Amino acid sequence: MATLRNNTPIGFFDSGVGGLTVLKEVKRLMPNENFIYFGDTLHVPYGDKTKEQLLEYSKGILKFFEEKKCKAVVMACNTTSSTIYEDIKDKYYFKIYPIVQTVAEVLAKTSLQRLGIFATPATINSGAYEKEIQKYNSEMRIYGQHCSEWVRIVENNTSESAESIDIIKNDLNIMLRNNPQKIVLGCTHYPFLLPILTKFATKELFIDPAKYFAQAINTDLTLAGLTNDNSSEHTEEFYVSAEPDKFKNSAKMFYEIKQTVNLLNF
Ligand code: DGL
Repeated sequence: MATLRNNTPIGFFDSGVGGLTVLKEVKRLMPNENFIYFGDTLHVPYGDKTKEQLLEYSKGILKFFEEKKCKAVVMACNTTSSTIYEDIKDKYYFKIYPIVQTVAEVLAKTSLQRLGIFATPATINSGAYEKEIQKYNSEMRIYGQHCSEWVRIVENNTSESAESIDIIKNDLNIMLRNNPQKIVLGCTHYPFLLPILTKFATKELFIDPAKYFAQAINTDLTLAGLTNDNSSEHTEEFYVSAEPDKFKNSAKMFYEIKQTVNLLNF
């Protein structure tokens, strides 16, 4: 079993660029850390994959993080947090942080009574947000809705096209019929679409869970005595399983990647 060391990296993974919304917040709170990001662009979107497929993909990714001697892994993906986290959480020497379970606890402790959740088909079908929120709060009404095209729009960087704007507006209008007080962007890709969403609704309506998630990760690693206090050497590495240039280009509107994006096949 590998020893956890303060100066080893924190691994992040998602199906593509979405998890960068989480990396950005974690980096803001923990600027001295070393980061490794993996986007599984060969298999994006995760939201229409089966549990077996997601388990298979995550096996390769987590093995890679073991080889990189990561001290912790951030599941910057609602879909895998909802479907496979429980199956794999105890199988590795490092702690795995799941976004849904972490953020649901924070949401449940708010005074909100009507909460909308936008997420992928797999996340919505799993009922994970409802289940996790209900552990702490049985009063809150949850309105889950999947937005099946949104991940493709973000990955292909086509959010400004008339067709994409129509899709996004239409999905938003369906949700608004429930009269939610807030809508959680329950897929890490969705905050990329805030410039479009806020054309049709106020910014305050949307919750990007990344900042709550980042706070929880920071608190937990600090309590575990695992933060990196050596600010002199900090690194960021990026890996994808397909099309590194496309990844870098789609990432741009949310996260500027200065490093080379490496192609990795398991
Ligand atoms: N960004 C991921 C999530 O939060 C996966 C989206 C997808 O690939 O369908 O669910």
